[in-house]
Amino acid sequence: MRSVYTKVTDSMNFFEGNDPVELAKTYGTPLYVCNERILRSRCRDLKHLVTYPNFVVDYSAKANSNLAFLQIVRSEGLEVDAMSPGEIYVEKMAGFAPKEIFYICNNVSEEEMQYAIDEDVIVSVDSVSQLEMFGRLAPGHDVAVRFNPGVGAGHHEKVVTAGKKTKFGVDPEFIPQVKEILKKYDLHLIGINQHIGSLFMTGDAFVKSIDSLLEIAAQFPDLDFIDMGGGFGIPYKKEDGEAPLDLKNLGEALDKKLFEFAEKYGKMIKFRIEPGRYISAESNVLLGQVHSIKHNHDKKFVGCDIGFQVLIRPAMYDSYHGIEIYRPDETKQADETAETAALAELVTVVGNICESGDILAKDRLLPPIKEGDILGVLDAGAYGFTMSSNYNNRLRPAEILIRENGDVVLTRRREKLEDLVKDLIPLDL
Ligand code: LLP
Repeated sequence: MRSVYTKVTDSMNFFEGNDPVELAKTYGTPLYVCNERILRSRCRDLKHLVTYPNFVVDYSAKANSNLAFLQIVRSEGLEVDAMSPGEIYVEKMAGFAPKEIFYICNNVSEEEMQYAIDEDVIVSVDSVSQLEMFGRLAPGHDVAVRFNPGVGAGHHEKVVTAGKKTKFGVDPEFIPQVKEILKKYDLHLIGINQHIGSLFMTGDAFVKSIDSLLEIAAQFPDLDFIDMGGGFGIPYKKEDGEAPLDLKNLGEALDKKLFEFAEKYGKMIKFRIEPGRYISAESNVLLGQVHSIKHNHDKKFVGCDIGFQVLIRPAMYDSYHGIEIYRPDETKQADETAETAALAELVTVVGNICESGDILAKDRLLPPIKEGDILGVLDAGAYGFTMSSNYNNRLRPAEILIRENGDVVLTRRREKLEDLVKDLIPLDL
């Protein structure tokens, strides 16, 4: 490989001595590459966020639910949340015990609710009517309720999950009705939870939202836990020197609140957080290959095999992901690394999907890219594979894991054409 533009992965030793061009050749592209060392270190960062002793990190598996990934998260001593029977299923497969799984459901059917009850996981409901449904199905059980503290935050309006305009959580005004239903079905409220939104880079809104959550908690004297939610951000613009979240500051602000509340509440109640992105995003680089470069009117397009069916975040939220360039030796030409970097040009990097919104990076300043180059899309471990699809009947990619000793293992095989049609039932014409 010739390194054309590899600053971020070099600084983290992301590939642990492996050559991304070789990985792309061996496993094909697009390819999600996960680094075990980085994943483990992100788990540890949050496990040690506060000094408060009764503190649990529930990893939010919607960000990345690869089985091997979940096994590593579990081995770091984290618990998990789940949003669907499918997440509960894979989490159990990864070895999580039922009581280590927190099912935070939203508008589910009786069948789904019953599935969670039968699996014996902890259930949180997020409306008065779903509490009633839970009571009907499981009178006398433990249950948690998700509240909407009236404060939201997030990188895009589509990911703000609390506040006056969102569908999530119970408005605290309905606390009397919640209490009535708890009594009617003899339910035991063991916890309350919230999640204000995704991707904050300063902890202010998060810390502020905890005040209202704690006010709600004070109205229920017998809780086992309070779950403060996720949303911990990561710097997507690393090449520009964007700073990471200041966990030390955030931890100190939290610690103060947690200890104060425990003292007032009269017990060292369990506090949980529910991060998805912070744990997973930086552990993955998505590799793709450039197949075509063209000029269309005034624009230069770099066409690769990372369409929005592989990574939808840029198309869906205008999200930014850093892009690196790795060059196979055989395309070696006169230009060398330093010179090429100096020749950076504005290009739009696009995928292979039949939509003009299939854009991975718009008007991005990058060193000159050649056909055959391998691109590395940074910070792709959160909401990457989990939001991928088979749109245009394309195959979902493989995933590999770079172990801490540098060994590479396949953790998900690339789909085959047969996978696309395995559930189709032909007509007998
Ligand atoms: N807990 C609940 C109840 C959630 O709804 C979420 C995310 C999380 C925890 C984890 O949030 P995190 O720590 O990852 O920010 N697809 C979007 C993000 C959607 C987040 C939805 N809920 C994206 O790619 O930015």
